[in-house]
Amino acid sequence: MNPKTNSLPMRELIEQSLSRRSFVHILTSGACVAALTELDVHASAPETRKTSQMFQFRSIPPSIEDRVVVPEGYTAEVLYRWGDPINGESPAFQPNASNSADEQEKQAGMGHDGMEFFPLPGFDPNERGLLAINHEYTDQILLFADGIEPLPPQPMPMEKVRKSIASHGVSIVEIAKQKDGRWQVVKSPRARRITADTPMSLAGPAKEKLGTEARGTVNNCAAGRTPWGTYLTCEENFQGVFGTNASGFQPTTAQKAYGLSAEGFFYTINQKKVPGYRWWEQLPRFDLSQPNNDSERFGYVVEIDPYDPTSKPVKRTALGRFRHENSELTVAPDGRVVVYMGDDEMDQHVYKFVSEGKWDPTSKAGTGVLETSGLLDKGTLYAARFNADGTGTWLELAPGVNNIPRKSSPTDTEGFDAADIAIHSRMAAKIAGATPMDRPEWLAVHPETKEVYVTLTNNKSRHATDAANPRAKNIFGHIVRWKETNDDATSTGFKWQIFVLAGNPKNADSTNHGNTKGDFFACPDGLKFDASGVLWIQTDMSSSVMGKEGYAELGHNMMLAADPITGETRRFLTGPRGCEITGNAMTPDRKTMFVNIQHPGEPADDLSDPNMPLKVSSWPDGPNGGRPRSATIVIRKQDGGFIGS
Ligand code: FEO
Ligand code: CA
Ligand code: CA
Ligand code: CA
Repeated sequence: MNPKTNSLPMRELIEQSLSRRSFVHILTSGACVAALTELDVHASAPETRKTSQMFQFRSIPPSIEDRVVVPEGYTAEVLYRWGDPINGESPAFQPNASNSADEQEKQAGMGHDGMEFFPLPGFDPNERGLLAINHEYTDQILLFADGIEPLPPQPMPMEKVRKSIASHGVSIVEIAKQKDGRWQVVKSPRARRITADTPMSLAGPAKEKLGTEARGTVNNCAAGRTPWGTYLTCEENFQGVFGTNASGFQPTTAQKAYGLSAEGFFYTINQKKVPGYRWWEQLPRFDLSQPNNDSERFGYVVEIDPYDPTSKPVKRTALGRFRHENSELTVAPDGRVVVYMGDDEMDQHVYKFVSEGKWDPTSKAGTGVLETSGLLDKGTLYAARFNADGTGTWLELAPGVNNIPRKSSPTDTEGFDAADIAIHSRMAAKIAGATPMDRPEWLAVHPETKEVYVTLTNNKSRHATDAANPRAKNIFGHIVRWKETNDDATSTGFKWQIFVLAGNPKNADSTNHGNTKGDFFACPDGLKFDASGVLWIQTDMSSSVMGKEGYAELGHNMMLAADPITGETRRFLTGPRGCEITGNAMTPDRKTMFVNIQHPGEPADDLSDPNMPLKVSSWPDGPNGGRPRSATIVIRKQDGGFIGS
C-alpha cells in the first residue's frame, strides 16, 4: 500500500489472502495439520519471508529500559495517568497517594486497559474527541500512602474501600490536539468517571432472576464499540473483589465455576493469604455469605453512552457471564449484530452472540444513544468448538439444546432456563462441548475479509493438547484465526487455522519455541486491526516470568504490527519495567494512536512497597515522582505520517 495516501488496500488484501496457497489449502482441504506443517516450514526458514508492504517503520529490539521506546521518527507522550483529573484541572494527583476517595472519583482510575476514541459532532475528528478508558484493577498497596494497613483482623476502613471502588471502572475524558501538535485532556461537560459504585441497569435474560437494577462495574479489561456510537466495557476478574469473613464459608458449585472464594484476590505476606480488597468488610453486597449478594451481577459486557454523562450504563446479560476480555462487534450481511468474546481463564471458551433483530444503519449511526430495541438483549449465545480437521462449530447455548438440560422446576439447580444460560454461561458451554482454550483474550475482525482472530495468551497447565491448542505447557501463547461459512458472521460453521505460535523460533532450548516470522514475542493479549488492515498485537508476559528463564531475551512487554497476509510481525513499541501493553485506539486519519501502559512497576511477587514505591519502575514521572502510574500515551509520527508508515 502507498503510505502517502489514505487509500486502503482492502480489495488487494482479500485477493492476496484468497490466493495465498496455505490459506486456500487449509480452507479447501480442511487439513489443519497441513497448515501447522506449513507454518513449521516457515519457522525453519524465516529468512525466506517476504517483507511486509503494509508497514514501513524500522523494527525496534527487545528492551529492558524503564521507558517507552518507539521506532525512529516516532514520539510517545504521556496523556492521562492514574490520578490525573478528568477535567484537566483539579484535583491534582498527590504523589504520595494521599488523595481522598472523593478526589479519586474525579481523577483517572488505576490499571488503564481497553479504550476507544469517539469523535465529537462539530469538531474535526482528528483533532478532538472523547476517549473512553477502562481501569481494570487496583494495586491496593500503591493506591494508599500507607499501603493496605491495617491488616486483618482489623477491617479495611470505609475510606480505603471507597477509594478502591472509585479507582475501578471507566474514564470518559475529552481530549484535544494543541497548537504544538500535542494532545491534552481538556475541561469538558462530558468528562465522567464510572466506578464500582455507579448505578446501572441490568437488561437481557438475567433480569428475570436478578432484577433490573445493578450497581457498579469492576475489572474492566478490554472493550469494544457499537456502530451506533456506544462503548462496550467488559468485566473480567470480578471474582477478586468478592469474599467473606464468615467462618466456615464454602462456595457453591456455581460460585466455584467462576473462581469465587472467601479471600478473593489475595497477597501472600509472610506466607499468609491476605485478601487484597476486603470491600465486603464494609459493603455486604460484596460478601459472598450474604443472600442475593452482587456476585451474579458482575461478569458482563456493559454498554455506555460516552456522550451523555447522565446516561445510565446497561449490563447486557444476553452476551453471557464470564471473565470477559473484549467484545468485538461486527454486522452480518443481513444486518444482524454479532459480538465475538473470549473468557480469559485457562481452559475456558470463545463465544459469540448473534442478535435476533437487525441493525438499521440509517436510524442512529454514531449517536451514542444506548440500544433500546433489544439488539443486545435478544439473540443467541454460542460457544466455539474447534474440530481437529480444521472445521469449527458454533454450539448454541440454550435450554434443551446441545445436551443442556431444561429446568424442570424453579428449584431445579441442574437444569437451565434463559436466565441460567446468561448467568452460568460457562457451565452451559462446558456441557455443550465447547473447546477448552489456552486463555482466550482479545478477538479482532478483519475490516474487510471479516476473518476473526483470537489471542490465546498462555496456558502453563495444559496437559492434553488438541489441534487448536497444540502445545502442552503453552508458556508463550498463540493466535488462531477463522473464516465463517459464506463469510457470514451468523453462520454456525467455520474453517480455522493457527496464525502464529508465539516464541522465538531459534530458541532451541525450549520445546515451546515458536514459529514467528519476523520479530518474536510471547503472551499475545491486546489485538486490534486498524482501518488499513494492519493487525496490532500487544503482549502481557506476567511480571512473575519477565526476564526469567525462557523469557529473558524477550525483554519487557511490547506491541507489534502483524501483516495478516505474510504473517510478518514487527516490533513497534516496548514498555517500561513491570508493565503490560494494552488498549489501542486511533484517530480516523490513522495519524494519532493511543496506547495504555498498565501497571508499570509491578513486582514479580505482586507486593509493591508503599515505603519504596519506585523500587521496580519510576515511569512515567521519573525518579522524583511518587508512584509508578498506569497511563494513556499518544504516539505520533514526527513527519505527520500514518502510524505504521
Ligand atoms: Fe484483563 Fe485477560 O486480561
Ligand atoms: Ca488483557
Ligand atoms: Ca493478559
Ligand atoms: Ca491486565
